[in-house]
Amino acid sequence: MPAYDESRLTVIDHPLVQHKLAILRNKKTSTKDFRELVTELSIFEGYEALRDLPLEDVEVETPLEVTTGKKIAGKKIAVIPILRAGLGMVDGILTLVPSARVGHVGLERDHETHLPRTYYCKFPPSVADRTCLVVDPMLATGGSLIEAIKLLRKAGVKDIRALTLVSCPEGVKAVLDSDPDVRLFTCTIDRELNDHAYILPGLGDAGDRVYGTK
Ligand code: PRP
Ligand code: URA
Repeated sequence: MPAYDESRLTVIDHPLVQHKLAILRNKKTSTKDFRELVTELSIFEGYEALRDLPLEDVEVETPLEVTTGKKIAGKKIAVIPILRAGLGMVDGILTLVPSARVGHVGLERDHETHLPRTYYCKFPPSVADRTCLVVDPMLATGGSLIEAIKLLRKAGVKDIRALTLVSCPEGVKAVLDSDPDVRLFTCTIDRELNDHAYILPGLGDAGDRVYGTK
């Protein structure tokens, strides 16, 4: 396993997450179930990634007395899916934070070189002031995520949290080495990449499985 900065890495090993992940990996899982599982896993992951959101006091009148409760202190959040597969994670995050803005980065890996090509990029207004959750189910070589993080840094974003479902050691190291501040959340770090830069054991092509295109 390559060495990397573990203080910026969270592997979500909750039993429910591991249970759902095993169903997600199964090649017999239908497109409908795959999509629903990606949403459910994104909710668990978003919950963990937003654990340190700042709170402020709020006065609440219960049926018995007035007390002090908490509310989220107006932190601005954006979800940035990497197209296509990352789109499958957006609904899960919006379930947690319905007011979050959504930006899009269109990246596609070249099948020969495995290098990403950017074909679309649109961020919401005042993106630089937002906590940005970059979402993509797969972290393989890291090329796609590194490119998306670079585009966000170029737009002035300071707080970037990357959320993937399945990662591999090579990709985790590449992403954490590429940026000194990015934080990475994932549900598993699998064994390795194969010669075609697919994750083993992995789950195959996430975009094809979310959209049923194969
Ligand atoms: C997949 C996946 C990631 C990328 C990961 O997308 O969703 O974006 O590959 O690989 P990397 O870490 O080596 O860059 P793909 O390029 O197949 O596009 P798609 O989502 O449109 O299918
Ligand atoms: N992209 C995928 O969708 N799956 C992999 O295993 C690697 C990259």
